[in-house]
Amino acid sequence: MKTLKRITIVGGCGHVGLPLGIVLASKAGLQVELLDIDPTKVNLVNSGKMPFMERGADELLSQVVGKSLKATTDPSCINSADAVITVVGTPVDRHLNPTVGEVYRSIDALLDRMKDGTLLVLRSTVYPGVTKLVHERLRRLNRKVLLAFCPERIAEGNAVEELIKLPQIVSGFEPDAIAAAGELFGKIAPSLIELTPPEAELAKLFTNSWRYANFAISNQFYMLAENCGLDFYRIHDAVTRDYPRMRSFAKAGFAAGPCLLKDTLQLAAFSQNNFFLGHAAMLINEGLPMFLVQQLRPHDLPNKRVAILGMGFKAESDDKRDSLSYKLKKLLSVEALEVLCTDPYVPDEDLVPLEETIRRADVIIVGAPHAVYRDIEIPAEKIVLDPWNFFPARQLASVTA
Ligand SMILES: NC(=O)c1ccc[n+]([C@@H]2O[C@H](COP(=O)([O-])OP(=O)(O)OC[C@H]3O[C@@H](n4cnc5c(N)ncnc54)[C@H](O)[C@@H]3O)[C@@H](O)[C@H]2O)c1
Repeated sequence: MKTLKRITIVGGCGHVGLPLGIVLASKAGLQVELLDIDPTKVNLVNSGKMPFMERGADELLSQVVGKSLKATTDPSCINSADAVITVVGTPVDRHLNPTVGEVYRSIDALLDRMKDGTLLVLRSTVYPGVTKLVHERLRRLNRKVLLAFCPERIAEGNAVEELIKLPQIVSGFEPDAIAAAGELFGKIAPSLIELTPPEAELAKLFTNSWRYANFAISNQFYMLAENCGLDFYRIHDAVTRDYPRMRSFAKAGFAAGPCLLKDTLQLAAFSQNNFFLGHAAMLINEGLPMFLVQQLRPHDLPNKRVAILGMGFKAESDDKRDSLSYKLKKLLSVEALEVLCTDPYVPDEDLVPLEETIRRADVIIVGAPHAVYRDIEIPAEKIVLDPWNFFPARQLASVTA
């Protein structure tokens, strides 16, 4: 097995590839090239700027860019790589089925350039069985590329911190591939956990589906309590306070973003659509925006201006991919007088400044509870809908009054 020095990350300027590249370049002493099809992101990265929010990444990027890290749109960097990590994933299509074609196409393109003996790491969450299919394809082509599946398990926004804290799951069909992947991730992760590829694929999907179902339980209980005029958070506090068995009882709020729903649906498709818990979680989490609209209907919604605070898919994020705040906006646009959306981080020219939003709105809904909203003053006459309990004193008081 050759020593790993030069690493290419395919999809390297995205939310998974870029933090990983920065950490490999800054903490593992590796030479990292970030290959991406998006020239805007490539230019930003090469000028030392992060294309998205990621805690702690800006400083590390400025230390390594132009030295041990560079971004490029030129795939020839694959030719000289000792290891290629690809984050190109398996999105679900509009029929809610995973699309694996993109992964195959991108891997075929890599194989044209990769030398035998090179490590190929599948990093994105894949549909179960994809690693085996890629492995079989390599054997059919008589290629001696070392294939490993090593799923990314960071929470977006915390990647730089978590990549060096979380154990890394490593899997492959051959000892050489497992050893090479272990050598690579052993440079940054505190420990390695070895699984077979099918186990590792399910491990990643179980993780995201578990989180998604966990949020759905809270959202279901929230809606149940609200429907009978009770304050969910008084009950939440009562059952979690000094009661360790309920530690994982999440708060209610939008469970969204590019991963949790997609990966739950991958598991659903894999289980021949017998993953009832996953589908139930989808109905509950995706149903929360409509529940909020329904709560407002008795309050003369057609004559109300409604504000949504926070359009990112979660707090402290500028990522609006699959954000339920946008789903809520769409629903409200049909029924309310006007919808005013605000967010300090999300790039969207339709957003309204916070101060104007609060001033003009009759109703305020917390979409993503960014910390910057903590100290805002909301006049008493405004209705507040706050599934997160971000403004505890305002919890539904105005709506039920
Ligand atoms: N975002 C997360 O927190 C997270 C966590 C764990 C796993 N994942 C998985 O990682 C995968 C990637 O997610 P992401 O959030 O980084 O997506 P992203 O959109 O932020 O990044 C993907 C990057 O790949 C680039 N790209 C697409 N096709 C390419 C190609 N053929 N060649 C080169 N570059 C290409 C895009 O331009 C983009 O910069 C997904 O499958 C996701 O399920 C994401």
